[in-house]
Amino acid sequence: MEYFHEGLKIEYKGDADLVTAADRASEALIRERVSQQFPSHDVLGEEQGLNDRGSEYRWYVDPLDGTTNFAHGFPVFAVSMALERRLENEQARIAGIVYDPTRDELFSAEQGKGAQLNGKPIHVSKISRLKECLVATGFPSHKRHKNPNIFFYHEITLKTHGVRRAGSAALDLCYVASGRFDGFWEFNLNPWDTAAGTLIVEEAGGRVSRFDAAPFELNSRETLASNGLVHEALVHEFQEIFAGRGLGSLPDPRAYQR
Ligand code: IPD
Ligand code: CA
Ligand code: CA
Repeated sequence: MEYFHEGLKIEYKGDADLVTAADRASEALIRERVSQQFPSHDVLGEEQGLNDRGSEYRWYVDPLDGTTNFAHGFPVFAVSMALERRLENEQARIAGIVYDPTRDELFSAEQGKGAQLNGKPIHVSKISRLKECLVATGFPSHKRHKNPNIFFYHEITLKTHGVRRAGSAALDLCYVASGRFDGFWEFNLNPWDTAAGTLIVEEAGGRVSRFDAAPFELNSRETLASNGLVHEALVHEFQEIFAGRGLGSLPDPRAYQR
């Protein structure tokens, strides 16, 4: 938060892919604390990559999720951390936290023990009709010219109460877990974006999958999360859009202007 108030020098990782001193300082601090507490654990962080010590425990760290927001003074960003246990034929995320310092909100979950917001249990929403849902998505800054999500944004906007695009995938997932959103999807997220949030959604009673309902994995590149009740309806909409149905309906802005 000190960096947020001070104003920042932005650097570019790609044409619109930003990084700030806060991303680097946050990851350095997290790595230092993890190695003090758990010296043998592996850490995969967005800014420094994988530190592989051959441990069965691996931390997934997004030191600042929502960097574009942060750099512009838009107060929607978080720190995301998850712990995975990697056994020979099984990998399981066993704990996750997402912390939003602007609202002092700590979302947390432990495998099999439910999810919490600031220590109080949270649950996904009970809305079962897609047309009554508020959902969220995001657009990547990396390879953005190749992303078809604007079609999905358009179609799902017409089928729901609305689609929010707030700029922090980790928080979007936590908002599904706490019932503020009923669903969320995004293409091409990285493991550090989703590792904590997806566990928090599942522990809050929600469902996470690929766009075709196949099981979600950290390297899936497709993330669809929901309260469970509207999951099949969302999967159906995605199938329709992938099949090219409905895509003719994007209105022509020139006609709108006349
Ligand atoms: C980004 C945010 C954003 C999502 C992007 C991510 P970053 O993470 O989660 O919501 O749309 O795809 O890259 O780069 O701010 O850590
Ligand atoms: Ca991120
Ligand atoms: Ca980040």
